[in-house]
Amino acid sequence: MSAHWTMFGEMRFFHPGIVRDARRWAVGKSRDRAAWVDPDDLELVVSELVTNALRHSASGYNDGGVDVRLFVDPAARVMRLVVVDDGHAATKPEIPVRSWGIGDATSGRGLLIVKNLVRDMGFTIASARDRFCLLWVEM
Ligand SMILES: Nc1ncnc2c1ncn2[C@@H]1O[C@H](COP(=O)(O)OP(=O)(O)OP(=O)(O)O)[C@@H](O)[C@H]1O
Ligand SMILES: [Mg+2]
Repeated sequence: MSAHWTMFGEMRFFHPGIVRDARRWAVGKSRDRAAWVDPDDLELVVSELVTNALRHSASGYNDGGVDVRLFVDPAARVMRLVVVDDGHAATKPEIPVRSWGIGDATSGRGLLIVKNLVRDMGFTIASARDRFCLLWVEM
């Protein structure tokens, strides 16, 4: 069965306060349109994904930003959060299968936390030139 998504929010966030603003906005919006989503879980997920955009892509530059979109399939009671960064990254999101391979590193666990809070997640690297990353999660 394919999902029937309706977009109910779209916003670009700018420095300073990108993570805080995106978190507040997403939690506020989802309260009305996706009441089954745990706001504490959503806060964590938005924080990790938007922080990744800032840390790993051109969104972290002074003139950068992060796009956040919210979709809902009310019949299936699923919300989709999409975070689009400014690209130009040397890496792409490593969605862990297991927590193996991280060893003693002090970072590299954010997406493992996210994966444990969402039903499904994935990403696309769009545009050959800018290589911006569109990462989605379903909750
Ligand atoms: N938006 C992104 N663009 C490019 N690479 C990314 C992006 N998000 C994540 N990555 C890559 O995926 C890896 C895993 O992300 P993850 O959030 O789990 O770890 P981290 O950000 O390095 O550390 P932390 O534990 O503080 O979150 C990152 O180290 C980075 O190489
Ligand atoms: Mg991270």
